[in-house]
Amino acid sequence: MCGIVGYSGKTKCGKPLEVCLQGLKRLEYRGYDSAGVALVAPGMERVAYAKKAGRLSNLVGYVQRHPLPDALCGIGHTRWATNGEPSDVNAHPHVSEDGRIAIIHNGIIENAGKLKFDLQSEGYSFVSDTDTEVAAKLLGKIADDIIKKTGKPDLFTACRRMAKMLEGTFTILAVDVREPGVVVGMRHDSPLVVGVGKDESFLGSDVAAFVQYTREAIELGQDQAVRIEGGDITITDFDGKPVEDKHFTVDWDASAAEKGGWPNFMDKEIHEDPSAVNETLMGRFDLDGRIKLDELHVDEDVLRQIDKIIVVACGTASYAGLVAKYAIEHWVRIPVEVELAHEFRYRDPILTPRTLVVAVSQSGETMDTLMAIRHAREQGSKVLAICNTQGSSIPRESDAVLYTHAGPEVAVASTKAFVAQITAAYLLGLYLAQVKGVMFHDEIQLQLSELRAMPKKIQWVLDNDDDLIHQTADRLVDKNGFHFLGRHVGYPVALEGALKLKEIAYTFSEGYAAGELKHGPIALIQEGTPVVVIVPSARNRNILHSKVISTIEEVKARGAYTIAIAEQGDPDAGRYADVTFTVPQCPTLMSPLVDVVPLQLFAMYMAEAKGNDVDKPRNLAKSVTVE
Ligand code: F6R
Repeated sequence: MCGIVGYSGKTKCGKPLEVCLQGLKRLEYRGYDSAGVALVAPGMERVAYAKKAGRLSNLVGYVQRHPLPDALCGIGHTRWATNGEPSDVNAHPHVSEDGRIAIIHNGIIENAGKLKFDLQSEGYSFVSDTDTEVAAKLLGKIADDIIKKTGKPDLFTACRRMAKMLEGTFTILAVDVREPGVVVGMRHDSPLVVGVGKDESFLGSDVAAFVQYTREAIELGQDQAVRIEGGDITITDFDGKPVEDKHFTVDWDASAAEKGGWPNFMDKEIHEDPSAVNETLMGRFDLDGRIKLDELHVDEDVLRQIDKIIVVACGTASYAGLVAKYAIEHWVRIPVEVELAHEFRYRDPILTPRTLVVAVSQSGETMDTLMAIRHAREQGSKVLAICNTQGSSIPRESDAVLYTHAGPEVAVASTKAFVAQITAAYLLGLYLAQVKGVMFHDEIQLQLSELRAMPKKIQWVLDNDDDLIHQTADRLVDKNGFHFLGRHVGYPVALEGALKLKEIAYTFSEGYAAGELKHGPIALIQEGTPVVVIVPSARNRNILHSKVISTIEEVKARGAYTIAIAEQGDPDAGRYADVTFTVPQCPTLMSPLVDVVPLQLFAMYMAEAKGNDVDKPRNLAKSVTVE
């Protein structure tokens, strides 16, 4: 939450402002209730800055009307409020008492109250309700002390000294007019990556902040600080000891994070579901078709010993984990638990060196998931991350990583990442089956060929169901209280369908296992109640199919308006449901990859029909970097 961008170049010009505003545009998905920039050039008495509550466009309009000076360096911030309501005064940057230093911050400083009290008793005054202003004043004081002692400014040392005094989570960027051209960043439990340019350097919450300028990047590790000045980059720990740089090249370009003609990012990203599956499968097989996950860097002997998997994740990622449970238990014959990451470490889970903890995360920055994997590793378990974001914290802190190659996901509501996560988790399951020798080669090949067929089947849904889904969403736009029901792998899909509708259409909805209906929720069904049912194939497990059809009959008998997601040729769905969204035939374990697509489109059309901002739903942010 909160997006951060920083830039330092060699010549005084408009580029620092341009980089900050472009970066903020790409990071706006991380928070969008206020935005600000600060610029520094030689000769300035005070940092030049502007900040505005509301969307980034407010700030852009403001700086057009009140132009900022050319500069050597700059920092920019888009906010998701934690401390203090969204307002101009609470927006970042915040400045030191004398206005010579400005900082931006992502995270929560937990000892801000105590630090503020101490500063107030020394005569410092505060104008905002934020913890960030406390850090700005504190940094100003430390920087002045250093100047008094040494006779020269040293923002890098001042920042590191301050970092050691802060408790909580933070990524902070700072600039000081006494060192024009220098931007210092530091991180503890919040993300920061460095972009490497020629005679220029960049900082960002993630690579999206600067990928249009450079794809060469460096991961900044936990409790590390960075100083950039033009093309010079220095990284140390908080004690000032140099650390080894971890370079990587971003595997997508800026155009991947553009709308590219789509009305919104969510629409574009749903239409990238097929390529997300495809790309996640690419390059992961040897010449004999055996799965080859070299990037895992976990000894096959260690994997052979694994006797339990615990998936930790939140929201959509946890539903992908729940889908994977059905497949992995079936294929590998070891128990798979799926645990919400924020519940995991508080319940004293049973973890052994033979437990594999799989953290699923699109952003790689979800604090709840990060804390869960730290706990797992402390208990001696191996952690494997399934993640979509290179250079992010969760893969960095895991023993192994399997990247989903869905490309950047910008819309707050997760779509293509979900299908990519299922694909990666299936690859992992089949790889474990291969390593443990619990499936024959041809059995694994059969599953892989079904998986490879899925992108085309997803495309079929996108090509054929769109109009009906759109019309249905328009017709039901005023309905509230949707029920989403499914069984077996259809159950997590139902949970995901309900979550999508809640978060972007603001429509109350509940997903649950269809078998639970008669244990309580059926009392809610009355004339016109919308019920969405994921119908399993009649070909594969007829018993489940007939039970789900009975569920449709039961709710219809009580007046429900029913929507079925059913495969082509389903003998019953069309007869019982009011509307049927058809999907191509596929094996049961593959069906979530097609069944979820109509639900993603349905939520998007409902949100559009209500006039909501599809990509930036209220109160939400894409990366939840607070616990
Ligand atoms: C829902 C959604 C969230 C995320 C959850 C985990 O559309 O996007 O529920 O799935 O916050 O985020 P990641 O995957 O980044 O860890």
